[in-house]
Amino acid sequence: MMNFSTRSIHIGEEPDTVNGIGEVVSSIYLSTTFARKDAEKPTKGYEYTRSGNPTRLALENKIASLENAKYGLMFSSGLAAETTLFLSLLKTGDHIIASDDLYGGTERLFRTVLPGFGITYELRDLTVPLLPESMPENTRMIYFETPSNPLLRIIDIERTSGAAKKNGVIVAVDNTFATPYFQNPLQLGADVVVHSTTKYINGHSDSLGGTLITSNPDLFKKLKFNQNAMGAVMSPFDSYLTMRGIKTLAVRMKEHERNAKEIASYLKDSKKVRKIYYPGLEEHENHHVARKQMRGYGGMISFRLNTDNDGVKRFVRSLKYISLAESLGGVESLIEIPSLMTHSGIPRETRERNGITDDLIRLSVGIEDAEDLIEDISIALEKT
Ligand SMILES: Cc1ncc(COP(=O)(O)O)c(C=O)c1O
Repeated sequence: MMNFSTRSIHIGEEPDTVNGIGEVVSSIYLSTTFARKDAEKPTKGYEYTRSGNPTRLALENKIASLENAKYGLMFSSGLAAETTLFLSLLKTGDHIIASDDLYGGTERLFRTVLPGFGITYELRDLTVPLLPESMPENTRMIYFETPSNPLLRIIDIERTSGAAKKNGVIVAVDNTFATPYFQNPLQLGADVVVHSTTKYINGHSDSLGGTLITSNPDLFKKLKFNQNAMGAVMSPFDSYLTMRGIKTLAVRMKEHERNAKEIASYLKDSKKVRKIYYPGLEEHENHHVARKQMRGYGGMISFRLNTDNDGVKRFVRSLKYISLAESLGGVESLIEIPSLMTHSGIPRETRERNGITDDLIRLSVGIEDAEDLIEDISIALEKT
């Protein structure tokens, strides 16, 4: 069995896999269609790029191997992957229980799209144990992010999956923040792993994508059928970029985490900071769960300052290297105010009940020199 970095570099790109010329890097197969000898069947397995493409397949094999899984499917965005997941495995009358801290776009999908298909949902604090008897009878799926966006809550994957299994419910985990380098939900009992590959997996903020990963052949069959039938596939060029990005995932994640730890420790000691959320800190309320199920704590930090909302806006505007922008997981550091940006679509009441107020700041720590990032933060803090 190859170790993580070896798999991230070699799986899916074994020389000679496609056309026998010994290429060590997958080519980008742009052809949307493939000529065949017989009308009845494709000559080499490929017929039309939506149903299958060599570049995308190389990436699908690579990404599955990183989650120690049998199957991977690539989509045009994280939300496209989620939409395919929900509409493939759920039907009218089914119910989803989801965690109450979620990416704003995922909450919007639950609130505005799924009800049109007769699928109901509820948002719950899944950091408290999920009791099988508390699940409505028509519950078919548990869906959560851990660590969650933006409050970095940690949900016990093994315990939640165990409770769900008692009722025959599918467990899907969004592993975007941890990445397979730090956490493998399938090994802890989940059925499907979701990633927005736009984030750490690609890692360079230049390709939008998503993935669904599973080892369950029945689930895979349904998802694979609908990847083609619904059609939200990743393009060959994005597949190439993502494959290129994945090769340095381990190296990048080590650096993201190293910088995040230094910055978390700096922020923790700063008098200007009122509250910090980083699962790697012992005082994080679910640190013990993170320590149990993760191999590292990642590069995302959220925090609140001892200032008013104007001070918060002044702080994010004053940074020099850290850009004020949505998204996360790229080599460059990004900062944002979730209530005004990534999570602004969530109704104010739901958002604020959950702690996503205008003073909350989310930082995606990049892999620049930590010293420069800390200097940038300290100068901006002086201006609040
Ligand atoms: C945790 C998480 N899941 C899913 C998504 C959606 O992915 P995409 O933007 O690629 O559609 C995001 C986007 O920010 C996210 O942060």
